[in-house]
Amino acid sequence: MTNEAYKILIVDDEELNLKMLSRFLSCDQYTLYTAANGKEALELARSISPDLVLLDVMMPELDGAETCRILKNTADTSQIPVIMLTAHPDKDAKLRCLRAGANDFLAKPVDTVELQLRVSNLLDFKRHAETRKWNTLLEQSKATLEAKNRELEAALHEIERAQAQIVQQEKMASIGQIAAGVAHEINNPVGYIMSNLGSLQKYFSRLTGFIEIQSGMITDKELQGQLAAQRKSNKLDLIIADTANLITESIDGAERIKKIVQDLKGFSRSDDNAKNPADIIAGIESTLNIIWNELKYKVKLNKEYGAIPLTRCNIGQLNQVFMNLIVNAGHAIELQGEITIRIRHEGGNIFVSIADTGSGIDPDKLEKIFEPFFTTKEIGKGTGLGLSIANDIVRKHNGDITVASEKGKGTEFTVRLPVIE
Ligand SMILES: Nc1ncnc2c1ncn2[C@@H]1O[C@H](COP(=O)(O)OP(=O)(O)OP(=O)(O)O)[C@@H](O)[C@H]1O
Ligand SMILES: [Mg+2]
Repeated sequence: MTNEAYKILIVDDEELNLKMLSRFLSCDQYTLYTAANGKEALELARSISPDLVLLDVMMPELDGAETCRILKNTADTSQIPVIMLTAHPDKDAKLRCLRAGANDFLAKPVDTVELQLRVSNLLDFKRHAETRKWNTLLEQSKATLEAKNRELEAALHEIERAQAQIVQQEKMASIGQIAAGVAHEINNPVGYIMSNLGSLQKYFSRLTGFIEIQSGMITDKELQGQLAAQRKSNKLDLIIADTANLITESIDGAERIKKIVQDLKGFSRSDDNAKNPADIIAGIESTLNIIWNELKYKVKLNKEYGAIPLTRCNIGQLNQVFMNLIVNAGHAIELQGEITIRIRHEGGNIFVSIADTGSGIDPDKLEKIFEPFFTTKEIGKGTGLGLSIANDIVRKHNGDITVASEKGKGTEFTVRLPVIE
């Protein structure tokens, strides 16, 4: 704006005055426009938006005061400064002009220097006012932009967090699906291995019974001696005893496989969001079955289970919560320690607490552990999502997770789940 010439509109019904005023103001900084009456002045003001209007008071039809009033009452032209020119400045006329919104007066005949000074002062004032207005607008837009930026950053962070959680949950779900598929495949062969072992046990006992009867029927001493020698050299007594043991152990092993397969099937049912009545203790037990291998060499496990009712929940997802908490507890124990799982029913809630005698958590880190990606584990060992996902799942069950920890002594996480029938 400062590089452009100011537009000045001069309004007077006398040709001579227009010429004179134009001459006085003629310079590079001003572009001058003239109008011979109020009506023309209003039209021109609307189309060129002048920076200042010099307005003669005494004009036929629409006089200066009225023209000024209309200019000041029209939104597009209300900010334009107006200098009134009057030959006989009586008080009434002055007051009319001031009421109409005039900014300044000049007495006719006009003094050149006074005219130039008043014009340049008003233009300066207008420019400062505009600069102030722009500055305020700029400040406001800056503040709005900054607020929007903060909102966008928060939204981005939230999207990243949600995305990571989805990826993690998808991963869990697909691991679950694979586990369920494998479990299903193993289930059948384990079934017939168990049934065959059962038959084998029965057949073997009949076979050994038959051999005993057969041996008892032989009365000939010589034959008895030969039979005993054969029996001894072939270590038959040992074989018979061992075979029975081998079959019992195999049945035991197959039963354990069957149990793990069942647990895996239950554990992997976390992909759907359906909530059904389920037994939290059975969920924890099947979770322990799956992760116990990882813990058994360094952890002594204590279980303090009270009686709890069934509750409507997504047991697959809750198993993930218990798994994350128990695995974390195991990680916190460096060499040897204890994990105590307490389960109780109180005031319409089921409380599951998992306490460890591990490293404990620094007080200043305690607030952060539920944040996604917060981990103190080495790169590749922890993603820092375990607790944030656990927290989300428990919240979706209208419950909460609390934590108490003492550095060097251990940590206890407590999951509260309202019982839903
Ligand atoms: N029982 C605990 N004892 C001590 N620190 C713990 C315990 N549980 C959690 N923490 C701290 O909280 C952090 C966050 O745990 P979280 O389960 O969210 O992530 P993580 O175990 O590091 O990684 P992952 O995503 O593999 O679970 C851990 O890195 C650890 O510092
Ligand atoms: Mg973890």
